[in-house]
Amino acid sequence: MPSLTWIGKDAVLNHHLDVPYRVLEKKYDFGDGEPGNKIIHGDNLEALKSLLPEYEGRVKCIYIDPPYNTGNENWVYNDNVNSPKIKKWLGQVVGKESEDLTRHDKWLCMMYPRLKLLQKLLSNDGAIFISIDDNELANLKLVCDEIFGANNYVAQVIWKRKRGRDNSARWFSKSHESLLIYAKTKDNFNTSCLELDEETKKAYRNPDNDPRGDYRMLGTWARGTQGGVKYSFETKDGKKFKERLWLFSKENLEKLDQDDKLIIRGDNIYRKMFLYENKGKIPETVWDDVSNAANASDEIKRLFGKIIFDTPKPIPYITRILQIATDKSSIILDSFAGSGTTAHAVLNLNKQDGGNRKFILVEMEDYAETITAERVRRVIGGYGEGKNAVEGTGGSFSYYELGPELLKDGFINEDVPEQTIREYLYYTETNQALPQSNNGHPAHLGNFEGVAYYFLYNKDETTTLDATFLASISKKADRYVIYADNCIMPQKFLFDHDITFKKIPRDIRRF
Ligand SMILES: C[S@@+](CC[C@H](N)C(=O)[O-])C[C@H]1O[C@@H](n2cnc3c(N)ncnc32)[C@H](O)[C@@H]1O
Repeated sequence: MPSLTWIGKDAVLNHHLDVPYRVLEKKYDFGDGEPGNKIIHGDNLEALKSLLPEYEGRVKCIYIDPPYNTGNENWVYNDNVNSPKIKKWLGQVVGKESEDLTRHDKWLCMMYPRLKLLQKLLSNDGAIFISIDDNELANLKLVCDEIFGANNYVAQVIWKRKRGRDNSARWFSKSHESLLIYAKTKDNFNTSCLELDEETKKAYRNPDNDPRGDYRMLGTWARGTQGGVKYSFETKDGKKFKERLWLFSKENLEKLDQDDKLIIRGDNIYRKMFLYENKGKIPETVWDDVSNAANASDEIKRLFGKIIFDTPKPIPYITRILQIATDKSSIILDSFAGSGTTAHAVLNLNKQDGGNRKFILVEMEDYAETITAERVRRVIGGYGEGKNAVEGTGGSFSYYELGPELLKDGFINEDVPEQTIREYLYYTETNQALPQSNNGHPAHLGNFEGVAYYFLYNKDETTTLDATFLASISKKADRYVIYADNCIMPQKFLFDHDITFKKIPRDIRRF
């Protein structure tokens, strides 16, 4: 399979593993209701890593809208990659191509480790939706083929982003953007059909007052060059139809006849297609009906009184993604959150269909608080005045900053709360979130696949795995993994009793 190379690729292939694990520090809660919605202020590379213990394999839908690398955005490539080639770039504003020939290399180096982490966060039946334009579309496609697997590529949607047409364009008015879609595992990913619009529903009628409701009539025979099979057919009332090219197999037609779903008109048979049988519209790859960029800016104006964010997406565009790829209890992640349209769309949709979807937003700039979180506050509480007033959706979120590194210079950072260390440790061992409760022993973390995990930690004194500690364990397990500073039990004893000792901090896995 072809793959893409660029300057710096070798340095970022495993960079996601070197990113330090930083603790998420909650700053405040807003609103009422079940917790779960999160807004995180910080670089998404570190934030995504911090989300792994709780969210690996749990996110149903990821939407990202990264810098498109147009040359006009002035984004900064600042990842702490330990490579001389890349160190040269750090802190530099990524500018126009003519001024900066490595613009595409930098963008790919920025995206690669983030996509790697996003892939880990996706659930088995989940999918990622990535907005992009022609500047990086071709590169992004190849990199996603590499990270998500070319066989998990689902579709490229074309979105008509421009309200009008740019008549000043030299060659073409660029009216669209793309949305690349990859599943974590394509066979497990399903798209939901979209609700039928009123226009379509009007085509269903009920002239004979069928108690099953409105229906449409579909011809059962093939016309012209359409495919089909040739046979004669007799209805259960004994009406015979001579040999013709049928669209349905004989068995299907007989079943429809049994179910009273056939209508006979002269020499023709139609099937009744009931409205209740229609699951909706399968999503198409061209979206020209989900608003546009100008309307998205108008929405920002309605929210804030002026345009304080340049590149928002319209709510209907994100809502379409949610309708296709989420159910009422899905977790949705947007790690390039900007003005927070994704949270807005999630809250609206939950209000509309009684759902309990949760959002996680990550935004690096300081406006994470003043724009991203502020928008979500207004959406929850309601905004606008008079006839433009929009009722609040209700709901809540918690706001986080990236806190200290969990491991510093190889040692456990004593500033980190013990509960956070326990969550991290359990995750590194099991890839699972720490259970809500343990077996009552203060050092017990949880049991997974027959193994009981213990963390004997005290930041003020050295801990020892000894006979006294072992005697305090009353609950039996197939095996035991015990973390402590020291162990004075003989190797043979540990072996005979299926106990694995892990030394703090030496044996704490970095991921
Ligand atoms: C195109 S905007 C997203 C707009 C968003 N979809 C909306 O509707 O408002 C991209 C956002 O990603 C943020 N961003 C860029 N690099 C980031 C990073 N490394 N970590 C977190 N946020 C980042 C930018 O600050 C910007 O707000």
